[in-house]
Amino acid sequence: MKTLFRGGTVVSGKGTKKADVLIEGEKIAQVSRAITPQGDTRVIDITGKLLLPGFIDAHTHFDLDVAGTTTADDFASGTRAALRGGTTTVVDYACPNKGESLRHGLRLWHEKADGRSSCDYSFHMTIDDWNDAIEREIDDMYAAGISSFKMYMTYPAMMIGDEAMYKALKKLKEKGGICGVHCENSGVIDALVAEKRAAGENRVSCHPETRPAQLEAEAVSRLLRIAQTVDIPVIIVHMTNAAALKEIEAARKRGQKVYVETCPQYLVLDDSVYYQEDFREAAKYVCSPPIRKVSDQKALWAGLRRGEIQTICTDHCSFTLAQKELGRNDFTKIPGGVPGVETRGELIYTYGVTTRKISLATMCKTLSENPAKLYGMYPRKGVIASGADADLVLYDPAADHEIHAAEMIGRAGYTPYEGFAVRGGIQQVWLRGTLAVDHGAVLTGPDGKFIPRGKNML
Ligand code: URP
Ligand code: ZN
Ligand code: ZN
Repeated sequence: MKTLFRGGTVVSGKGTKKADVLIEGEKIAQVSRAITPQGDTRVIDITGKLLLPGFIDAHTHFDLDVAGTTTADDFASGTRAALRGGTTTVVDYACPNKGESLRHGLRLWHEKADGRSSCDYSFHMTIDDWNDAIEREIDDMYAAGISSFKMYMTYPAMMIGDEAMYKALKKLKEKGGICGVHCENSGVIDALVAEKRAAGENRVSCHPETRPAQLEAEAVSRLLRIAQTVDIPVIIVHMTNAAALKEIEAARKRGQKVYVETCPQYLVLDDSVYYQEDFREAAKYVCSPPIRKVSDQKALWAGLRRGEIQTICTDHCSFTLAQKELGRNDFTKIPGGVPGVETRGELIYTYGVTTRKISLATMCKTLSENPAKLYGMYPRKGVIASGADADLVLYDPAADHEIHAAEMIGRAGYTPYEGFAVRGGIQQVWLRGTLAVDHGAVLTGPDGKFIPRGKNML
C-alpha cells in the first residue's frame, strides 16, 4: 500500500520546503515537489499542514524503580503516551543495580519493553560501577546494538566516582562511544540537605535550594575536565542553567566536543513552582536537577537558537501524586521526575517556534535529526527522505487547544503543563508507514520495534 501526503510543508534540520511525500510499506519512497499518484495510492491532502520527521525522545525512564517505588508509566503506557505526543522512537535508560552485570540490565530492559512498546525503542546502558567484568561487557553492549551509556555524578544508588568515570570513559573512547552524564555535585548537596534538616526545614522548596545551579555547573566543569583528560566527547544530559552553559562554552573554546540536552520543563517552567503552599502542587515538579530561574530559561532558549544545545528530550520519569506523598515528611524522599513524553512537541512548537525563540528547523534538529545522529539511528530515523522509516508527525498549525491531564494517556494523573495554551496541534502520527495516532487517539497496539544503534554521527 502506498500513501501520498500531498501539498504540505516538509520540515528538516535545514528549513522547510513545499513537497509531496510518498510512503510505501514501512519506508519513505520519494520526496519531491509534485508526485503523481499511481493507481492504488491513497492520497492525503495536507495543504496548510507541517510534516515533521517522527520525534525521538532519547531520555525516558519507564518502569524504573526509584527510592522504593516504581515509575507510574511502564513501556506500555509510556510508549503510547509518547506516540500521542509525536514521538516515534524512545531511548530509555536500562539501569542495572550496582553489582549486577550490564548483560543482566539489558535483558531486564528487553523484558520490560519487548512486545509491550507502541513506538520504536532502544536503550542507553547505565554504568553505575566499574570493574574488569563490566569493562569486558562494554563490547557485548555494542554487539547488542547499545552504543550509548549514562553515568551519574549524584544519587547514592547510581553515582560513580571520578576515578571510575575516568576509566569508563577511557574504555568508551576505544569503542568510539558516547556517554550522557547527570551532573550535580553530590557531596555538597548532602551537606546542604544536612543543614536544612538541622534547621528543621522540610518545605518542597528545600529541594531546589539544596541542588543549586552552581553545583550542577561545578559537576559539568569537573566532568568536562575529566573528558578533556581522556580526550572524548561527552553529552551533558538534562542541562538546566546559564552557569553550566558557560562551563560548556569554555570547554568548547579549548577545543572539546560537548553535546548538550535540555528538557521542556527547564524551558517553560521556573522555580516558583516549588514555592506553592500546597505540598502536592509543589511536589509535582520535583526533579533533578531542579527547575531553575527565568534567566536560566532565557539562556537555554538562546543556547538552542545558537546551536549550543543539540537535543530537547523529556527525562520522562512519572510518579503519581500519591507516590510524591512518600516525601511529605522528608523532602529528599519525594520521588524525583516529571512526566513529559506526551507534551514535548506541542510545547516546543508553541513556546519556541511561534514565539520566534527558535526556528522550525531548530525544532526539527533538536527533536528528531540530532538525536537520530547522536545516538546512531540516522538516516533510518530523524529525517524525511527516501529510504528512511516512514515515521511522520502531521502538525496542524491551526488546531489551537489547551493541555489537560484528563485527556492524557500517561499514568501520572497530572501534567506539569496543566492548562497551558498550545498553538496548533499534532493531527496524526505515523509509525513506519502505519497511522498510529489520529486526532489524539492511539490506533495501534504494541508494534514498536527494538532499534539496534550504531555510532554517533553528529
Ligand atoms: O529527577 C529526575 N530527573 N529523575 C530521573 C532520573 C534522572 O536523573 O535522569
Ligand atoms: Zn539524570
Ligand atoms: Zn533521566
